[in-house]
Amino acid sequence: MSDSSADAQDPQSSSKLSRRWFLRGAGGVAAGSAFAGGLAQQAEAARARSLAAAPEVLEGDIEFELSINGQRMKLRCEPRTTLLNALRNHCEPPLTGTKQVCDRGNCGACTVHVDGRPANACLMLAVDLRGREVRTIEGLGAPGALNPLQESFWKHDAQMCGFCTPGFVMSIQACLEKQPNASLEQIKRACSGNICRCGTYPAVFEAALAVAKGGAR
Ligand code: FES
Ligand code: FES
Repeated sequence: MSDSSADAQDPQSSSKLSRRWFLRGAGGVAAGSAFAGGLAQQAEAARARSLAAAPEVLEGDIEFELSINGQRMKLRCEPRTTLLNALRNHCEPPLTGTKQVCDRGNCGACTVHVDGRPANACLMLAVDLRGREVRTIEGLGAPGALNPLQESFWKHDAQMCGFCTPGFVMSIQACLEKQPNASLEQIKRACSGNICRCGTYPAVFEAALAVAKGGAR
């Protein structure tokens, strides 16, 4: 076996560390470092180019406007801020009617309307909603001036802890706006993404059907 192949198979077994092996290994490390350094430089250059092209996208807070409940609202937050976080923590006044429960699209507590369609606010970036119309539970009605569905929830005692309630109302409201005579099946389908840990489903459906003009009472 040649000296070089023995080195390649077991360099440590040799009593003398082969100078050739050492130089080859050192060269590999140097080449690897140079390669890694090159990648780091490329990444840094790409980042610099991105910053030059769109400085507001990567660095810190940005300012933008959203249309929420028919009003233009100025927001200042990081680009990674979800709509849910923006509503609750970056609006003035804070819009805390939209609830944060799972924060990952599983429970429906954060349901709002975007351009009239129900959507989970925890799954959208606020900055992506520029130019869209966002409606929250505060946009439906207010204490003393509830909309018919909110009032029906109240009359039918369709909430316990209430964390899920705004999400149910928003999902069912969107359904009733499209289908004023929604059936029980259609209402159930509309809020199939909403979960109530307190088990208020029967009262929720009663409240919704009381508003649906053609639904069973
Ligand atoms: S908080 Fe958004 S789906 Fe649960
Ligand atoms: S009323 Fe408590 S989670 Fe629905």
